[in-house]
Amino acid sequence: MSATESLRRDHVLIEKMINALKTISLLLKNGKQIPDSILNQAIDFSINFTNTCHHGKEEESLFPTLEKKGMPREGGPIARMLYEHEITKELANSIVSSTKIYIASGEQTELVKSIDDYVQHVSLHLSKRNQRLLLWLICYLMTKKH
Ligand SMILES: [Fe+2]
Ligand SMILES: [Fe+2]
Repeated sequence: MSATESLRRDHVLIEKMINALKTISLLLKNGKQIPDSILNQAIDFSINFTNTCHHGKEEESLFPTLEKKGMPREGGPIARMLYEHEITKELANSIVSSTKIYIASGEQTELVKSIDDYVQHVSLHLSKRNQRLLLWLICYLMTKKH
């Protein structure tokens, strides 16, 4: 599997998790209880798959390759993507802390807010505009002379 295909497949999985988080948020808003195991699985995916594995592939492989081809790290699409990854990490941490509160007390307000913020941010990061940008970066990478 090519590196770009691997990234595309990751995005499909991340979109599925975003849809699961939307459902969790909706259920919480409707007063339903969410089992700890479901919340812990969502957190595990968001931290270990999205942040570490997927963003790792982009940050340690795709972006450095683009830089080697002459794309600047500062002030362009790479800087924008790195910034958005940092925000993703912070928002995932908010889900972790609000999940602890929810599990300890049943209080769901913070958890709903942190899930909704995460969903909104990651959805934008995976939006068509950003996907077009990623495709443009990949085309740039493939056509630029060595
Ligand atoms: Fe990505
Ligand atoms: Fe990304």
